[in-house]
Amino acid sequence: MDTTPRETPLNPLHRLTLEQLRRRTSMKWRTYPRDVLPLWVAEMDVPLAEPVARALTDAVALGDTGYPVGTAYAEALAGFAGKRWGWEGLEVGRTAIVPDVMMGVVEMLKLVSGPGDAVVVNSPVYTPFYQFVGNADRVVVEAPLTEEGRIDPGVLEETFSRVRAGGGRPVYLLCSPHNPTGTLHTAAELASVAELARAYGVRVVADEIHAPIVAAGARFVPYLSVPGARDGLSLMSASKAWNLAGLKAAVAVAGPEAGADLARLPEEVSHGPSHLGVIAHTAALRDGGDWLDAVLAGLDDNRRLLTRLLAEHLPGVRYAPARATYLAWLDCRALDLGDDPAGVFLERGRVALSSGPAFGTGGAGHVRLNLATSPEILTEAVRRMASAVG
Ligand SMILES: Cc1ncc(COP(=O)(O)O)c(C=O)c1O
Repeated sequence: MDTTPRETPLNPLHRLTLEQLRRRTSMKWRTYPRDVLPLWVAEMDVPLAEPVARALTDAVALGDTGYPVGTAYAEALAGFAGKRWGWEGLEVGRTAIVPDVMMGVVEMLKLVSGPGDAVVVNSPVYTPFYQFVGNADRVVVEAPLTEEGRIDPGVLEETFSRVRAGGGRPVYLLCSPHNPTGTLHTAAELASVAELARAYGVRVVADEIHAPIVAAGARFVPYLSVPGARDGLSLMSASKAWNLAGLKAAVAVAGPEAGADLARLPEEVSHGPSHLGVIAHTAALRDGGDWLDAVLAGLDDNRRLLTRLLAEHLPGVRYAPARATYLAWLDCRALDLGDDPAGVFLERGRVALSSGPAFGTGGAGHVRLNLATSPEILTEAVRRMASAVG
């Protein structure tokens, strides 16, 4: 099999040089000194998708910079969900725009739980889950994934039973697809989650921000589409797949039995998203399919490239290419670099990765690498990591 990365002229991941990227002022490019190669926070090294750029430019030319209103974003999302995931159940009448996914998560927690209540998460998991849940006055309870990065039904049931016994209104904050492991949960896994949640009276809030980003041949399954998930709530956004984190907007979606909960969302929450954000996210979902496909092909190439590079330069690192997200979860325990290898790679290799331990239980000895970059930068990053160890 030919594993040489394909040269795709249209691939947005090939378009920007390191010099161009270094002119950016966002978190990825301005947190570390200039000599550090940043492959950490979930921003992509791509130019803006053309349909998104056009929608924004038109809005700016018109001075269309007021407050957002209406359901265009949810309608575009419903269309995308039908086309990409074969899911026709996204009911625009049961949606609300929210400022971003994490603020949306906090608002959903306020709707279905109270201060001091338990929020179950599958560690290792997206670091801000710990902070946002804590700041919302809820208590994080970990139900670790298996070594293979899958939801462990036994552990989940034991955890649900424990939080149920603790009283209050427990919630399960599902990350689907899962950050940092890139795990794409199957329909059967999600159905068993829904069954357990129902059995133990645990409400489910699903963070599905990475949903559009799947490997070739894989299909994302929306949590609300599985049997038993009718009282679930989901947060979706074009932010990760089209690199729009700076253009704030996301959508909260309620299942048929959670519509009344979502209807209690205070009106001011939906004043939080930026109008330009809503315009950008809507254009991405409605017209950005070809651009997304080019990025997804580039990410497939990068997963193969990373596999090759690690085999050649860092054979001690364990990496199983994921089926979703643009994140690579690297098990560096065999390198004996301690609990936080990212610190060593940064200090000795001048490459910034995300620290495993910050993702909670199961994160020690790991790093998260952001694959959404050019093959050149990815190659240089692995070379630097190897030089830090050798
Ligand atoms: C799982 C997950 N949820 C939420 C976010 C942040 O989303 P937002 O900027 O819309 O709050 C990220 C960003 O990487 C993420 O990976």
